[in-house]
Amino acid sequence: MTPFPAAESNAADAYTMKKQAPDAIDLLDADHLAVHALFQSYRELVRTRAPALQRRALAEEICMELTIHAKLEEELFYPAVRDALHDDELVDEAEDQHGSQREFVAQILATSPEDELYDARVAVLSEYVERHVRQEREQVFNRALAARIDMQALARAITVRKEELRAVSEALREDTLASALA
Ligand SMILES: [Fe+2]
Ligand SMILES: [Fe+2]
Repeated sequence: MTPFPAAESNAADAYTMKKQAPDAIDLLDADHLAVHALFQSYRELVRTRAPALQRRALAEEICMELTIHAKLEEELFYPAVRDALHDDELVDEAEDQHGSQREFVAQILATSPEDELYDARVAVLSEYVERHVRQEREQVFNRALAARIDMQALARAITVRKEELRAVSEALREDTLASALA
């Protein structure tokens, strides 16, 4: 004997799933938190004087995550925000910041992890990303949440595109980074 009839339990599951389905902002902010944690891990590698190969592997993972995240925002999220808010300046500024982020990523990828500048360049990227994320949360996310954007539909599109970008990035890691940075 189950304590609840099956139908009720299914209804409860459906309700829970509906309540818990992440929207576009949840997904993008989860990326922000994940990258923040990766940068923290990188600082720990520097503190413990980890070998160059280990530092490079983590730095490249950070660069890849940031590249995919920026693409998701540029292809899907920012256009929706631009349409809903009619504030080109806001979105142009965010896209400009992605441009600078790409330059910092390119500098890291062009630097040997044995180079004394390597860790400093990762630190510069970290600071830049933290600032961009803060601005994105305060200015873009807050206003997007108040706008009439279908955040659930956008979340589904982001999930599909992220899978595609990740599949490509794993198969052609180097090429993808090179073309994303071109
Ligand atoms: Fe962004
Ligand atoms: Fe972002």
